[in-house]
Amino acid sequence: MGKPIWIKYAAQLVTMASSAKGPRKHEEMSDLGVIEDGSLWIEHGVVVRAGSTEQLEQHFANRAHEAEIVDAYGKLVTPGLVDPHTHVVYGGTREQEFEKRLKGINYMEIMNAGGGIHATSRMTREADEDELFEQSFARLDSFLRHGVTTVEGKSGYGLNLETELKQLRVMKKLNEAHPIDLIPTFMGAHAVPKEYKGREDDYVNHLIDTMIPRVAEEELARFNDVFCEKNVFTPEQSERILEAGKAFGLIPKVHADEIESYSGAELAARVGAISAEHLLKASDEGIAAMAESGVIACLLPATALYLREEAAHARKMIDAGVAVAISTDCNPGSSPTTSMPLVMNLACISMRMTPAEALCAATINAAFAIGAEEDAGSIEAGKKADVVMWNVPNYQMLQYAFGVNHVASVWKNGLQVV
Ligand code: NIG
Ligand code: FE
Repeated sequence: MGKPIWIKYAAQLVTMASSAKGPRKHEEMSDLGVIEDGSLWIEHGVVVRAGSTEQLEQHFANRAHEAEIVDAYGKLVTPGLVDPHTHVVYGGTREQEFEKRLKGINYMEIMNAGGGIHATSRMTREADEDELFEQSFARLDSFLRHGVTTVEGKSGYGLNLETELKQLRVMKKLNEAHPIDLIPTFMGAHAVPKEYKGREDDYVNHLIDTMIPRVAEEELARFNDVFCEKNVFTPEQSERILEAGKAFGLIPKVHADEIESYSGAELAARVGAISAEHLLKASDEGIAAMAESGVIACLLPATALYLREEAAHARKMIDAGVAVAISTDCNPGSSPTTSMPLVMNLACISMRMTPAEALCAATINAAFAIGAEEDAGSIEAGKKADVVMWNVPNYQMLQYAFGVNHVASVWKNGLQVV
């Protein structure tokens, strides 16, 4: 493993180090562990020490000559961003649907008519593993160029055993081949496949009796996610699927209250989900229940914008004591983007999160939402050296000058990858 890397003179080093233990809530979300004139020593792929340049000059006085020096003068340095919710592995694209929606046909109408998730499911079933791998590899490259070093990815465009396994195996290969850490979620319950129309419970039974046990046996996923939504899976069906996953060690996640209020947040709290996603229409009771059980809200403001819906009520959730994370929701229908910086901008603009809260939600809270907090989400001794240097002098500027990619350089496990 080459020389140590010493990043010096950063105008601001945002470490996200804090005395708070779990996912950050309330004002903890604004405590970014900022060091002015910051410095960072990386060795063997991990962070050895972060502090002011003066402190590190003293500490490493005898070893300074060994290191490769990176001059971060005038720049912001942060942890690598974490995207805790994507559907990054899929076949085909759906640009025609985008146009239909602009002409007034809504997302669920398109899906119920056999488009939407069903269209991507057809294209994903047709694609072979190599095609899926290549398409998704390119998307992961794009994530990396936008400062993202850890990504969660869901299956859910197979909707049959064979193709769900294919998607998850592609994710496993991508995780090995690409610098990004890709953390897999099984989402066989993304839609009821057309061949089960009118026999929805048969598909639920198939998920429970066959697909979940097989995914667990092959150790292809850490989480089990369900699209709990009117005309997709009911709260009762969702609960059965999530409880079945728990019995096999799969941790629940829920796509909850996205299009209509459907007690998805309440369900997430009841089953002890690690996170609940979307939550545009979450009820006050649901938000209170999430706070009470420690469910992280994973909010997706790019999806809300793209579907021309009002964004989730982040302020209400933060005030209620829910830890908030944010994500691209990268998928071919409701959010074809890989830009976490844009998502941070939108968290501020459409959800009135502060610039500090948005950065917290895209780093340490996002890491907690996918159980990656030991490795990712902050710059602290012993953690992976996943680091981004930005062409702006402070974190406020990152959120203020919006829609622009400010990334200067990215290190993953201490290797410069951008
Ligand atoms: O999280 N809402 C459900 N699932 C995805 C969209 C999937 C698609 O349209 O292909 C989401 O937004
Ligand atoms: Fe999603």
